[in-house]
Amino acid sequence: MKILTILGARPQFIKAGSVSREIAKHKEIEEIIVHTGQHYDTNMSDIFFEEMKIPKPHYFLGIGGKSHGAMTGQMIEKIEEVCLKEKPDWVMVYGDTNSTLAGSIVASKLHIKLAHIEAGLRSFNMKMPEEVNRILTDRVSDILFCPTDTAVENLKKEGFPFKLSTNNYQLITNCGDVMQDGALFYKQFAKKPSNLQLQTSNFILCTIHRAENTDDEQRLRDIFKALNEIAKEKQIILPLHPRTKKIIENLKIDTQNLTLIDPVGYLEMVWLIDNCSLVMTDSGGLQKEAYFFEKQCITLRDETEWVELVDNGFNVLVGANKEKILNAYKTTSNLKLETSNLNLYGEGKASENIIKELISYE
Ligand code: UD1
Ligand code: UDP
Repeated sequence: MKILTILGARPQFIKAGSVSREIAKHKEIEEIIVHTGQHYDTNMSDIFFEEMKIPKPHYFLGIGGKSHGAMTGQMIEKIEEVCLKEKPDWVMVYGDTNSTLAGSIVASKLHIKLAHIEAGLRSFNMKMPEEVNRILTDRVSDILFCPTDTAVENLKKEGFPFKLSTNNYQLITNCGDVMQDGALFYKQFAKKPSNLQLQTSNFILCTIHRAENTDDEQRLRDIFKALNEIAKEKQIILPLHPRTKKIIENLKIDTQNLTLIDPVGYLEMVWLIDNCSLVMTDSGGLQKEAYFFEKQCITLRDETEWVELVDNGFNVLVGANKEKILNAYKTTSNLKLETSNLNLYGEGKASENIIKELISYE
């Protein structure tokens, strides 16, 4: 069996790490990795392949830093060329980025089977590029690998599974969350970021990069006002996504109280999550990692795909409202989470389940 894996952005490298390790156990499976180039800085891309020992991409398409249309269009053209040459049995896509959508369009038009990992997630906000990408990808996938029961339910409510051709329906399965596999595995290799000056052992870990915050000046200013205030009391370490860096520099947003660092590799990130006292983020993946490492999460968004975290009190949604952010900080900063009886994201065997399903699929 030949699987063509499409990767492009940071969270996809992290998710693919566990699945590639699982594929490597099967001599009968060949994995061809295509890196679209959506993320291209060393610490947004290469570092993950090196640290997590993901096989080097067979193809690097070099398509990053462009508008959505130009990026997705150029990716479609290049991925199609690779698919025509490689003739894979499966195209495998992760999550909800522009690289995901490009891979899905090519596979469906060339009648190559498509596996979507992280299917069924919804924010119900079609203004988010991610929501558009995942809905379109789900619609044309042969296997929808869902990370949660909520994701399966979302699909059912939308009328999935759809018929793909005569007698051929989409397969929907809850395989668990591949990010849990990764967090459990890479924890043993966690390392403190070099040169990081900790004021005390009690710090907050924060990330901000989502378009709904970075591309809305008022939201971004309000978030940073709240962070600056909290940071007078507790150190905030913020590995800064290049998108956010450019925008806060242009807008001259005040970050004086914050500890800004360059984006870190996954092993450093796992150390930061494991050692922080609280996570504040608009990242999708980090919300779950906070839970895996039993940390409370304050989510700087109006909605989340990971509703089970909110329902169980592990995650508070505060949007970009300064008062809400400050209140959430006051009420949650000293909470200790008890997560051990819950099994929200499977048992850390998502990659194994995915490969078993692909092997048995006819
Ligand atoms: C993308 C995903 C988002 C995901 C995020 C993970 C889409 C629509 N969005 O957002 O869902 O959460 O990746 O991090 O696919 N840049 C660099 N160097 C890099 C990468 C980006 O300088 O290595 C800068 C470029 O100016 C680029 C901008 O960041 O134009 C935005 O990058 P892009 O890939 O378009 O979106 P992300 O915000 O990273
Ligand atoms: N991450 C990382 N280094 C950083 C910031 C984030 O390794 O400097 C990891 C984070 O732990 C998570 C993944 O990147 O595993 C999430 O990616 P991101 O927040 O970029 O995207 P999202 O999950 O929001 O799509």
